[in-house]
Amino acid sequence: MEDFNIQNILFYPETLSIDFLEPVIQKKEVTQIPFQKIDIQSINKKNNNVFIIDKSFFLHPENTSLFSILKQESLLVLADENNHFNIPENLIYQYIHPAYPKSAFIKTVSNVFNTLDQIKKLKQTEKELIIAEDKIDELQAVGLAMSTQKDRNMLLNIIVRLCIDTTGADAGTLYLLDDNPEDQNEKILRFMVNQNFSLNIQSVPFTMPLDKKSLAGYVAITHKILNIKDSYSIPESEEFLHSKSFDEKYNYITKSILTFPMLNRKDEAIGVIQLINKRKHIDVVLKDKNDFEEFVVPFNEIDERTVSALGSQAAVALENTMLYDSIQKLFEGFIKASTKAIESRDPTTSGHSERVAFYSVELAKAVSETTSGKYKDTYFSPEQIKELEYSGLLHDFGKVGVREDVLIKAKKLYPDELQAISYRFAFARQNILIQAQNEKLATAKIENREEFEKKSLEIDQKTNESLQKLDHYLEEIKRINEPTVLKSEDFGILEEIEKISCSNECEETDKLLTPEELKKLKIPKGSLSDEERKEIESHVLHTYGFLKNIPWTSEMKNIPEIAYSHHEKINGKGYPRGISDKDILVQGKIMAIADIYDALTASDRPYKKALPVEKAIHILEMEVKDNHIDKELLDIFVQNKIYEKTRIKIEE
Ligand SMILES: [Fe+2]
Ligand SMILES: [Fe+2]
Repeated sequence: MEDFNIQNILFYPETLSIDFLEPVIQKKEVTQIPFQKIDIQSINKKNNNVFIIDKSFFLHPENTSLFSILKQESLLVLADENNHFNIPENLIYQYIHPAYPKSAFIKTVSNVFNTLDQIKKLKQTEKELIIAEDKIDELQAVGLAMSTQKDRNMLLNIIVRLCIDTTGADAGTLYLLDDNPEDQNEKILRFMVNQNFSLNIQSVPFTMPLDKKSLAGYVAITHKILNIKDSYSIPESEEFLHSKSFDEKYNYITKSILTFPMLNRKDEAIGVIQLINKRKHIDVVLKDKNDFEEFVVPFNEIDERTVSALGSQAAVALENTMLYDSIQKLFEGFIKASTKAIESRDPTTSGHSERVAFYSVELAKAVSETTSGKYKDTYFSPEQIKELEYSGLLHDFGKVGVREDVLIKAKKLYPDELQAISYRFAFARQNILIQAQNEKLATAKIENREEFEKKSLEIDQKTNESLQKLDHYLEEIKRINEPTVLKSEDFGILEEIEKISCSNECEETDKLLTPEELKKLKIPKGSLSDEERKEIESHVLHTYGFLKNIPWTSEMKNIPEIAYSHHEKINGKGYPRGISDKDILVQGKIMAIADIYDALTASDRPYKKALPVEKAIHILEMEVKDNHIDKELLDIFVQNKIYEKTRIKIEE
């Protein structure tokens, strides 16, 4: 009965005295109105009315529509014992003849009040249950929205928006606790996000000291929720105060404020959220003074409970993103360090992995935006773009498994091999000179002076010719040693040299060139022998072997495969697997283009001049003709001038 505090109106026939009901209805606000004066419209607006009426009421012509407008919990009909009035079944009613004993009358009325109470409570509970269910749904949705968001700034905005939506606030601000850059032992509050429904303002970042003078500081220190009904009536005795500068600057009136901490799992405050001006209706825009008076209400207890849950959820989600960020940074650091490790073994290709990653990413983004051709439906999500970037950074990691002298081999012979050849030529030179001296000595013994001088001249001439030839051969060896394409006459020269020995008496082993050196010099194109080429090519297998041992997340699961495919060709003639078009991932085809383009245009390979863009693209077009790379991907690469974007990025 005590809870039944909504106004009750009691109508009664003038003939009926209700003094005896006093004990039952004493706690009610009762208005006694004769039937004749009932205003049906006004009844309709009120709740929980109790009517005591009799037959005479229904005889009054204006009252006949009463039933149709009364709600279930509204009616007690005390009428005569016969249901003359066709009372609908959903109304609470009891027939009692006015001549019933008073005690029966009292009991009936009392029962009806109790019934109404129960109904009222039931309805209230149902309503609360629905609100609670809605809140639970809302909080679950909030939790989901927050837990799936990995970008910190996006998350902060989501948190503030959700707080505003769930409480009906007009504005919300989020601060995070941060280290004071001037004193690492101190903390400060850093403004992060502000959203204001009624004002369109661009907030400037700022920080404030962490102390109890500000509402946010007070909440961060005490972990208490501050629910202020009107910021203009904060008692002076409070430690905190609310600055009026914002209101003055923007002609705004901050009335109700709900400030609450974001507490993490360890119950530490990591941030504070401040909600301003709860509005009666969520879509009200507060413009002038009257709006603030009329539509701003204090935050209630449900708001406090909701934000308390929200604050903790937000803190956990935020810490998750920070953890995710730091894992991401750690991982990227590891990848960059790995890239450095690869490139430190081969400084001539420094920056290659990073550029391949960048070209690949830019090309993939351009593919996502393509609206025609076979890639019009291809879209790479941000996660797939990241996956491609990591693949690019790591694609040549397997070079760590290739011998360094092979890896950095710039010419057909290793430098020490060429050195050995030079020594052998010097030795041969000396031999020729000694031989000439010996010949001259022998001649001097047997010939007269005139004859001797003549023969000496001949010997000198022959010696010079031999020396010149030797020098010529060494020059030819040096030329052939360059990683160029050999002509057929070059093989002839090598065959000539092959026959020459260091000295006339020398054995087979004293040849100017060893069979091994000859074989290397006869490499028809480039600087690598077949074995060395195979060894270099094995870097892809090493890369794959290394990458597939990393427990990648599902979003990154294609990294090993993408890197594995970067030397495959559309026609199946690439390596190491020789897979063709349909079996190569698009990302692998993208990386193949990026890899070739960078190898051609990189300016940091001393043995190979950097080609100008036009020439490189021309070579890539040849690659398309040979069915090595994907035509449409190259078209997108060229049309979007991916190489220019990269140049800008690298110059940065
Ligand atoms: Fe490679
Ligand atoms: Fe590469």
